[in-house]
Amino acid sequence: MSNLFLMPRYAFTGEGALNTAGEKIKSLGSKALIITDDVMMKLGSVNNVTSLLEKENVEFFIYHEVNGEPTDIMVNNGVKKYKEEDCDFLIALGGGSPIDTAKAVGAMITNPGNINDYLGKVIQKETPPLVAIPTTAGTGSEATQFTIITDTGRNIKMLLKGPYLIPTVAVIDPIFTMTSPKSVTSATGLDALTHAIESYTSKLAQPMSEIFSISAVKKIFNNLLEAYNNGTNVKARTEMSIAALQAGIAFNNSSVTIVHGMSRPIGALFHVPHGLSNAMLLTDCLKFALPGATDKFYDLAKAVQIYKDGMSNIEAGQAFIDKVGKLCCDLHVQSLEEFGVDKNRFFNSLDKMAEDALASGSPQNTRREVKKEDIICIYKGLWN
Ligand SMILES: NC(=O)c1ccc[n+]([C@@H]2O[C@H](COP(=O)([O-])OP(=O)(O)OC[C@H]3O[C@@H](n4cnc5c(N)ncnc54)[C@H](O)[C@@H]3O)[C@@H](O)[C@H]2O)c1
Ligand SMILES: [Fe+2]
Repeated sequence: MSNLFLMPRYAFTGEGALNTAGEKIKSLGSKALIITDDVMMKLGSVNNVTSLLEKENVEFFIYHEVNGEPTDIMVNNGVKKYKEEDCDFLIALGGGSPIDTAKAVGAMITNPGNINDYLGKVIQKETPPLVAIPTTAGTGSEATQFTIITDTGRNIKMLLKGPYLIPTVAVIDPIFTMTSPKSVTSATGLDALTHAIESYTSKLAQPMSEIFSISAVKKIFNNLLEAYNNGTNVKARTEMSIAALQAGIAFNNSSVTIVHGMSRPIGALFHVPHGLSNAMLLTDCLKFALPGATDKFYDLAKAVQIYKDGMSNIEAGQAFIDKVGKLCCDLHVQSLEEFGVDKNRFFNSLDKMAEDALASGSPQNTRREVKKEDIICIYKGLWN
């Protein structure tokens, strides 16, 4: 059996990474479309990027309308701006939303048709260079070949993929995550944890991805709660930003499983932020997955030192899942009800959500057969 392993061409990490990346960024083109959101504008984070570009004599235009998870409309507007402004490369500054938008904009600059034609398709043509600067320690999108865009007409989250979507340069400078509020730190950090666990327990896990998964799991257990409680702790923020990158690299090469498969329909229909919907599902889905992957969960239990002598694999796995549950609790993960999801509408949507989850292909990477009725049962359980 052989495996392919993909990573960004350049990854700059640690404090000061943006400045270190300056020369590389300059070499990518003469005018950048910076894709970001209003929060980054208000916080002044975007000024760090524009000052660098001014110093390097690189022109830029700022498109800051990615206010919410990315949609086809945001992508189309971004493409329009890129062309009108005669840009020749892209810089994404923000959480997964601006980064995913920038990937899709790049894809639609060089590939034919409309973004909505690409549901589940592989992007075939090389895209303009993209610099991804994450401001959340979460999605790992800076290292992945995926982008998730909502088709507003069909109300589904489309997963587009292909190696051309991997950013050319990833800049993981923890300075950008320092302003992240508690709710964002919690949801995005648990998204990273979900990537790390799912990539390790996926059917597609491979030796090159496993090492990144395990390292990310350890870093997240050692630092997420501290980053949440003390957002200015540079060490915790740095460790979390590297963990998110590692988890991104891991799932880029081994995919995600049932949690992400079931999470996307909740996001598409009820606008629950991505990391939070993962977190709501996390322990119930892991309990479901455990019987098919006891040896994998045993490894995870050992990695976070919850394993005790004499435990069977299944007991070790259960102890690991309990530890995940405790972390979710400490991070005050809301339930669907607390978030304000309408229970009747949720129950009326169960069939569509289960179909959409299976259609995404992710649940099938779980080391246990996932049937439609299993998915419905887990969705219902979120209300107990
Ligand atoms: N492409 C991939 O591989 C991949 C993987 C996982 C998730 N995603 C996608 O990523 C998106 C979610 O991204 P996200 O969870 O990073 O959130 P986000 O980009 O949607 O940001 C959430 C909120 O946090 C704010 N924020 C972000 N960084 C901040 C900071 N440093 N300080 C203050 N506020 C800050 C944003 O302005 C926004 O209001 C979803 O669309 C999801 O589908 C993509
Ligand atoms: Fe995710």
